Amino acid sequence: RAPIKVDVSKIEVGAMVTVAWNGLPIWILKRDKQSLLSLKKHEALLADPDSIDSIQPKNTKNTFRSVRSDIAVYIGLCTHLGCTPKYRPELSPIDLGENWHGGFFCPCHGSKFDLAGRVYKNVPAPTNLEIPPYRFIDNDLLEIG
Ligand code: FES
Repeated sequence: RAPIKVDVSKIEVGAMVTVAWNGLPIWILKRDKQSLLSLKKHEALLADPDSIDSIQPKNTKNTFRSVRSDIAVYIGLCTHLGCTPKYRPELSPIDLGENWHGGFFCPCHGSKFDLAGRVYKNVPAPTNLEIPPYRFIDNDLLEIG
């Protein structure tokens, strides 16, 4: 399948865009500094904080699960039964509670993932969000596939 190219310079900080690759929805998220700092604070709540059991390329095996810390790329499907989680970047919204640090919430059976796509404990999804193969061709141009 042919790789696709995406210009990430057009994505605003805090925004997420969805593109299609290989028949899959691919999320590209531009994270702000605050979100990156918060990712280190709730690791004790995560089922697989180091992504040992999750599907991701080698070059994304780090805390931020990304090649570049500000840009995150995920396959936008819940690892439980494949529903589409919702992007919920806000902190502690009423419906998600005080311990919500921003991330992705799956409305089908309540799985929660943080902004690095790492799954929380005690939810049905067994692993972190998958990450497709990708690389930066230059500062702004991301190639997926
Ligand atoms: Fe997402 Fe079940 S499909 S929690």
